[in-house]
Formats: sequence, structure tokens, C-alpha cells
Amino acid sequence: MNNSDNNQNSSTIVNSNSDIINGVARTSLFVSAGRAYTTNSYVRNILANGSDEEKARIVEFLPYFQERLSDSFIPPKAGIYDPYSFYFSTTSDALELIKKTIAKVDPDYPLADINKYNPMYLWSFISESAHLRVAFRTKYIDHFIESQYNNSNNNDSNDNYNNNQFKQLIILGAGLDTRALRLNIPDDTVVYELDLLEVIEYKKRLLVEATKVFTPKTKCKLVQIPTDLRYPELWTKSLLDAGFQSDRQSLWVLEGLLMYLTESDIKILLDTINQLCSPASKILIHTVNEVPLEKRTLIFKEFNSLTDHPENYLIESGFTKDIKPISYIEINQMFGDDTTKLSKSSMFTSASNVR
Ligand SMILES: C[S@@+](CC[C@H](N)C(=O)[O-])C[C@H]1O[C@@H](n2cnc3c(N)ncnc32)[C@H](O)[C@@H]1O
Repeated sequence: MNNSDNNQNSSTIVNSNSDIINGVARTSLFVSAGRAYTTNSYVRNILANGSDEEKARIVEFLPYFQERLSDSFIPPKAGIYDPYSFYFSTTSDALELIKKTIAKVDPDYPLADINKYNPMYLWSFISESAHLRVAFRTKYIDHFIESQYNNSNNNDSNDNYNNNQFKQLIILGAGLDTRALRLNIPDDTVVYELDLLEVIEYKKRLLVEATKVFTPKTKCKLVQIPTDLRYPELWTKSLLDAGFQSDRQSLWVLEGLLMYLTESDIKILLDTINQLCSPASKILIHTVNEVPLEKRTLIFKEFNSLTDHPENYLIESGFTKDIKPISYIEINQMFGDDTTKLSKSSMFTSASNVR
């Protein structure tokens, strides 16, 4: 960990004071930190090689940019611009979570002075490869979602339905993902984000300020729903009450969620989604692959399911068309460079239902 840089002292840290640092909710902050690293690296590349237009877009981020952050492990092609992630990752809660986690991983680490440091540098306690995986998965899923709204990008040539019809985008276990604010998706789309109460509360509260600093790219409607996805009656009622229409095509994204659920909860969740969505609706899931016991880090203790074949989850729940499994190796080919070395460690599949 490199603590020698300190471009922002603790007096500038937003005081967030929420429950997000506990339980599975806290994992949303880990992922957000990976996206903050990716954003810093993206801005670095724009400053060095970007067009005037690209530079104009990131001006708002310059007061937050960390010149000395070690982010060169993120290949330029994997860059994403998610300034909100930076905001989420540098709050007083983020600092508390970092302290709590370091104390667990490295009990001898001197924590006394830690408040002096900008949390962005402290997030380096998470390995580069973990941040890199977040960068790749964000990039790939961003690309997948945008391609559903942009026919010229869409490689699903077998689709026999209009790709511009996904006016409902449902993100389950959305965490601190800000796709509703930063992706190229039509303004008349409604984005539903579902997650635990503590995550939704934290995100909503911080976005009030963060959206004043970083201008959202889209004007689509964002509906945030606190719920527990292990209880189908609960979350479907909330989604329907919030305006979701079962008879209109929908696009579903489950990133970094399924591994926290048991196999039986996954089956119930995906069956429920399949029953809830109209024909030719589409889903993308991402989860973690099987890892030999000796290679399992601490976080694996929290996982309740691992699979090398997430497509089977979808097929068994009725998403039997356009099945497209994709691994990090392929994603590396799309967005990596010669220096990127990623083990498998995560699996993606997209599919449509046929009803
Ligand atoms: C690793 S984070 C991923 C967040 C987000 N998808 C991303 O990639 O940035 C896992 C998320 O799943 C949420 N989650 C886990 N179990 C859940 C449950 N039973 N109900 C609702 N959300 C859940 C957590 O609160 C957390 O936000």
C-alpha cells in the first residue's frame, strides 16, 4: 500500500455515516473503488492523449483527479468514466470500511494515522487484479447495455425483435453502479435499481451532491427500490408498484450478485424474473467461477454459489434463446492489451426468454 501521497486530507471527506459498511452491502463499496481507479486512469489517458471534446467532458473531475495514484495496471481500452464512484469511495464510511477490512486482513498494520490519507490511496489494499477485474466487467457490461440501444453496435444478428424496445432496464443488486446516469441510453428508458436498504440510502443521499458536481449524461428516469432479492413476493410487488410493466420488453442485469445467493435462491430469483418479463426480454448475469480451495481468498467465505456454467442457471429458468457465455479471456481480447493477465475468475452469460 502506498500512503505517501495525500492530495486530499480528511477534512474534505464527505461525512456519510450509514450502515453500508456492514454485511454484504459493503461489497458495493469494494466494487465502487475499482471503478474509481478505472476512472482516474481514464482521466489520466484523456489528459495525455484525448481530443478537446474529451478533455472538456472531464474538466469537472480535475479537482478530484489523483496524479500520483498507481493506476497504470488498467489498460487504456478498459477505461470508463464514472466520477460518481470516486465520490462514493472517498466518504467517511469508505474510510471506516477500509480501516475495518485492513484490521482483519493485516492485524499488525498501523491504523493510527490512517485518517490523514485520501481513501483513494488506501483502496490499494485491494489487489490490482481485483480492481482490474472490476474495470473489465464494468466495461463489458457497459458495452453490452449500450449495444442493446444502438443497433449499429449490436452483434446479435439473430435477434428478431426491435432492440430499441428495452425501455425498462432492471438492475438487480445494483450496488453503487451509476449506469442510469452515465451510459448512452435513451432518455425515455426507465432504470429500476434494486438493492438492500442500506445501499440504496447511501447512494441516494450521496447522489444529491454528486450530481451537482458531475453532470449526468442521461435524462432517463431512475427508480431506486430498497428490497431483499431473496424474497420474490416482496421485490416483485415493489417493482410493479413502482411502475414496471410485465407486458413490455425489458432488459435485466445481475452483476456481482448471484454468488452471494444460494443455488435455490438463484433458481427462485431467475424463475421469478422469467415469469415477470414479456417475450424477447433479455438478461445478462455475471458471477464467479469455481476456484480451487487453495486459491480462495477471504471474500470466498461469503460466497454461497460458484459456477463455471452460469448459462445453465438461465436455461433452467426459461431463458433459452441467444445464449452467449463469455469469459474474461474474451473480454481481455476486447479491452485488454499485451500486458493484461487475468485468470478466469468470473463468468458472464446473456440470454433471452422465448415465451
Ligand atoms: C459486489 S456488490 C455488486 C454491486 C453492483 N452490481 C456492482 O457490480 O457494482 C453486490 C451487491 O449485491 C447486493 N445484494 C446481495 N444480496 C442481496 C439481496 N439478498 N438483496 C438485495 N441486494 C443484495 C449487495 O447489497 C451489493 O450491493
